Amino acid sequence: VDTYQAKQPLAGKQVLVSAGGTQERIDPVRYIGNDSSGKMGTAVANAAAAAGADVTLVATKMLPVLPAVDAVYVTSAAEMHDAMLANFEGADLVVMAAAVADFRPTTVSGNKIKKQSGDDALHLDLVQNPDILAEMGAQKSHQYLVGFAAETNDLVANAQAKLERKGADMIVANPVGYGQGFNTDTDTVTILRPDQAPLALDEAAKTEVASTIVRLAAMAM
Ligand code: CTP
Ligand code: CA
Repeated sequence: VDTYQAKQPLAGKQVLVSAGGTQERIDPVRYIGNDSSGKMGTAVANAAAAAGADVTLVATKMLPVLPAVDAVYVTSAAEMHDAMLANFEGADLVVMAAAVADFRPTTVSGNKIKKQSGDDALHLDLVQNPDILAEMGAQKSHQYLVGFAAETNDLVANAQAKLERKGADMIVANPVGYGQGFNTDTDTVTILRPDQAPLALDEAAKTEVASTIVRLAAMAM
């Protein structure tokens, strides 16, 4: 066995990873966000760097990264979309671990929104964000494309539908909600790939799950 190849299966490869929850601005002092910490995406970026890759990490949260990781900081889904698409063509492996907000306010108020006397409700108009993973799935040529599926219920069925709908090569199905998945240090995920049986992993540290994802992707590339 070539031990260099075994330890550095991604040597010479370009890897593009997204991490963290996006923030969708409402007004100068407020935004819509979610509970994603960026830990899983950053762990994937570091695992790919440890496997020898040159890595670009597009993240909303800056966590410690290895020297081979070039981190780009973004806030909104629109900014993440542009940063991912700008780096997509040159990538060999793309891992979309970010929790992209599904909707953003239709208009961003230039001034802080004030309470209106006599009205105890506020209505925000929201519009759907672009689906970055699906767009890359439709565009991909040589890239190996990995997405996540954050689900509170019917984990495998919902994630399987995303695998097909988004044209991904792998979906990491992740149970979330009430102390699970977001902002924790461990995950209990199931790996879905076209024409392969679901692979249910034992609960493990996010760093370990990230290494497994990178190893499985590298073997398939
Ligand atoms: N994703 C994306 N762009 C979006 C929404 C999601 O690239 N606008 C990606 C996520 O990064 C993840 C995958 O799509 O890799 C699945 O995200 P998820 O929120 O689980 O699925 P959605 O397609 O948004 O469906 P829903 O939230 O309605 O379950
Ligand atoms: Ca979503």
